[in-house]
Amino acid sequence: MLLEEYVSLRPYNTFGLDVTARYFARFASADALRELLQRPEVQAANKLILGGGSNLLFTQDFAGVVLKNEIQGLEIINETTDSQTALVRAGAGEGWHGLVEFALENNLNGLENLSLIPGTVGAAPLQNIGAYGAELRDTFERLEAVEISSGELRVFGAAECGFGYRESVFKTTLKNQFVVAAVVLRLHRLARPNVRYGAIADTLAELGIAGEPTPADVSRAVMHIRRSKLPDPAQIGNAGSFFKNPEISQSQYNALKAQHPDLLGYPVPGGAVKVPAGWLIERAGFKGLRRGAGAGTHGVHDRQALVLVHHGGATGGEIAALARDIIVGVSQQFGIELHPEVNIL
Ligand code: FAD
Ligand code: EPU
Repeated sequence: MLLEEYVSLRPYNTFGLDVTARYFARFASADALRELLQRPEVQAANKLILGGGSNLLFTQDFAGVVLKNEIQGLEIINETTDSQTALVRAGAGEGWHGLVEFALENNLNGLENLSLIPGTVGAAPLQNIGAYGAELRDTFERLEAVEISSGELRVFGAAECGFGYRESVFKTTLKNQFVVAAVVLRLHRLARPNVRYGAIADTLAELGIAGEPTPADVSRAVMHIRRSKLPDPAQIGNAGSFFKNPEISQSQYNALKAQHPDLLGYPVPGGAVKVPAGWLIERAGFKGLRRGAGAGTHGVHDRQALVLVHHGGATGGEIAALARDIIVGVSQQFGIELHPEVNIL
């Protein structure tokens, strides 16, 4: 197995930051991963499991070993006798959107609202990816993961993953302990698509789709909305939402709402209210900000204040400094603390 040295990670992170990995290797199977984990250089080093690099901010060179997941495979492994439900197993190195397309091609529903989320299948459980009224956990059946310390394969059901809003045990108590090798989802043939998320219904109408929409229609609508709002990393470096939407108490929300009648809030179980970080960042005056030489090397996206962008020529440290200033600015103005969604290294 090839263990490369001093490899630029620029093609491997959607911020497009030019940092170097001391060691870099790819693996295309759980066995290949185990073999790599036994190499002395790998055992001694810090390890970063890399998917598509779409939720990472590198603030410095990575002094350890980057292990890039390239485990392939998309298959329907089990259908109920009435063919209404099927389990789909996907290799962790498959692109997430490729899995969504595979499901749609096989008339299997449940992933259409998660169309066009960048990155790999294996990273999806890490933060329980979500968009447009759906989350990974809605269709999640189980995952298979290799324990880094022992090389053993372990199966995790939904309850053991501790999914929450942009959360799982793999980001907290089990952080850096397991490599997801495959994910199994339970998809449905007859399920009605979920069009409850406001913008979907309006966009279906805008696209001229009348009557009962199919899952493929919902996928089209979601892709349309995403393309209009979110910058394409191939054009402008970014990692999607940089912060999570914060949850505040009902009384804090009521007080803010009295001052700012246009502040939206979504009740969450337990009595808290989730408020849009993009609104807070915009109102704190950061939307469209550019910092750095010339016309600006980095900043805040001008159409979505929750997305920090790299125009070219910035360092990850500068982007992290901007993120800290946003946290301070929002806290001073609204008394709300933002927490990054992006993994900062
Ligand atoms: P990476 O960035 O490579 O890794 C992310 C983290 O997961 C790292 O800590 C890494 O070590 C770990 N990891 C990766 N693979 C594995 C594995 N196999 N086993 C164990 N650990 C692993 N996210 C959403 O939830 N909803 C959205 O709507 C959304 N929109 C986005 C839009 C844009 C334009 C961009 C750039 C990002 C968006 N994201 C969104 C964030 C991102 O796409 C997801 O977090 C995605 O799941 C990251 O996948 P990745 O393969 O790129 O992970
Ligand atoms: N808003 C503003 N100003 C802005 C941006 C947003 O006022 O500059 C307001 C909007 O007007 C809207 C509200 O904030 O009322 C929510 O905005 P939007 O619908 O764009 O969604 P979001 O909350 O900013 C979340 C997810 C996205 C996901 C979308 C769609 C988080 C942290 N982000 O964004 O996920 O795609 O909803 O469901 O939960 C990601 O995680 O990387 C990501 C892109």
